Amino acid sequence: MREWLYDVFRERPWWMSASLIFCAWMAIFYVPWDLFVKPVARDEEVWLGIEVHGVAAKLAALPHWFVYAAAVYGFRRRRPWMGFWAPVYVAQIAVSILVWKALETGGSRGLLLGAAWSLPMFAFALLFWRRRDYFAPRPLGLVRRYGEWALVTGASSGIGAELARQIAADGMNVVLSARRSDRLARLASELEKAHGIATRVVVADLAEREGQAALLDAVADLEIGLLVNNAGLGYQGRFDLQDGERLRRLLTLNCEAPLVLTHALVKPMCERGRGAVLFTGSASGYQPLPLRAAYAASKAFDRILGESLWGELRAANIDVTVLDPGSTQTEFQAMAGEIPHPGDAVEGVARAGLEALGQQPSVLVGWWSWLRANVATRLLTRPIAIHAAHHMMEAQTPEDMR
Ligand SMILES: NC(=O)c1ccc[n+]([C@@H]2O[C@H](COP(=O)([O-])OP(=O)(O)OC[C@H]3O[C@@H](n4cnc5c(N)ncnc54)[C@H](OP(=O)(O)O)[C@@H]3O)[C@@H](O)[C@H]2O)c1
Repeated sequence: MREWLYDVFRERPWWMSASLIFCAWMAIFYVPWDLFVKPVARDEEVWLGIEVHGVAAKLAALPHWFVYAAAVYGFRRRRPWMGFWAPVYVAQIAVSILVWKALETGGSRGLLLGAAWSLPMFAFALLFWRRRDYFAPRPLGLVRRYGEWALVTGASSGIGAELARQIAADGMNVVLSARRSDRLARLASELEKAHGIATRVVVADLAEREGQAALLDAVADLEIGLLVNNAGLGYQGRFDLQDGERLRRLLTLNCEAPLVLTHALVKPMCERGRGAVLFTGSASGYQPLPLRAAYAASKAFDRILGESLWGELRAANIDVTVLDPGSTQTEFQAMAGEIPHPGDAVEGVARAGLEALGQQPSVLVGWWSWLRANVATRLLTRPIAIHAAHHMMEAQTPEDMR
């Protein structure tokens, strides 16, 4: 409990924490009571000083509910849009008070009263505006927090290549690993030129134990402060139609390799008293997915492993986070044999993972993934969630593999 409270309230000024508590109270208790328990005839709501009653008040409470819930998320996760919206919303409350009082009392006395009552809120809006830098994106500071070297697996394309770019841009040297050496060499020279950092290329097939051992040998002389377990493979299709050897390689690459690498590299991190591990999991790891069964199970393994280590290793000052992207525009869909569908850009996905290090055990990228995962795991019964997922997966699976 103490650790949770520390996580929720650290770094933020006290008056912002008080605002967070107020918004949480409104979102969780007051507005639901107002909406669902308070009799319609007694209901009233004020927006921009205009008071509405009855059914109109019920409807006007809905945006209030949304605003308070979004504010809780924005304060908690330090979202950049809060820098603008927090002062604007507080100013809106101030205007509301001014107009309301002016209309209620009338004349110049009403205006004076309104101004007096709204002044503290205008001051509060100004305070938020002056401290909007609190919500601005911060430099990652990876070298200061974790040391000189990062190791990124699956760096030859997609999310891994982008993670390597952003880590290098933050000043860390990077070990780039995958199987396609030409791509790794090109990325290495790009990063050295652009950011003046050192790189090392290690070609290794992590779906084989020899490859995992070769990678660990190749970095044995370096102090790896940030390990990024990103290499991964999907495989779409009906289980009985899938190839057994490909399934085995998927499991080894997605589960065994991160386990082995993390186990080997976390020990020296603990001895040094700092370090970090970022797993690339997936939104697919949140619920059973017919026609993507082995992949979903492998990503559930990554998520549970990473989140458990988040709790276990924080006492040793090691940050662990699982980055759970939804569909992302990379070579992944083609490699997995999926019917192409739209996805997020890699830049935002990689950024979300690096920003969450030291902040959260896991981060689901995109509101759609968040909604799907939470509805499936918290609101629906298991059979209904699985049927719905099956339906969605069919649309992404070629006919001959359904
Ligand atoms: N794209 C998505 O929609 C999505 C969504 C959720 C999660 N993810 C996860 O994101 C991670 C990165 O995938 P991506 O989207 O960036 O796909 P990608 O562009 O296909 O990249 C996959 C990377 O893994 C490497 N890799 C594949 N097999 C390997 C092996 N046997 N040994 C070593 N490296 C291997 C690939 O390099 P080589 O082929 O050169 O070896 C490549 O660098 C994966 O863990 C994936 O599960 C992706």
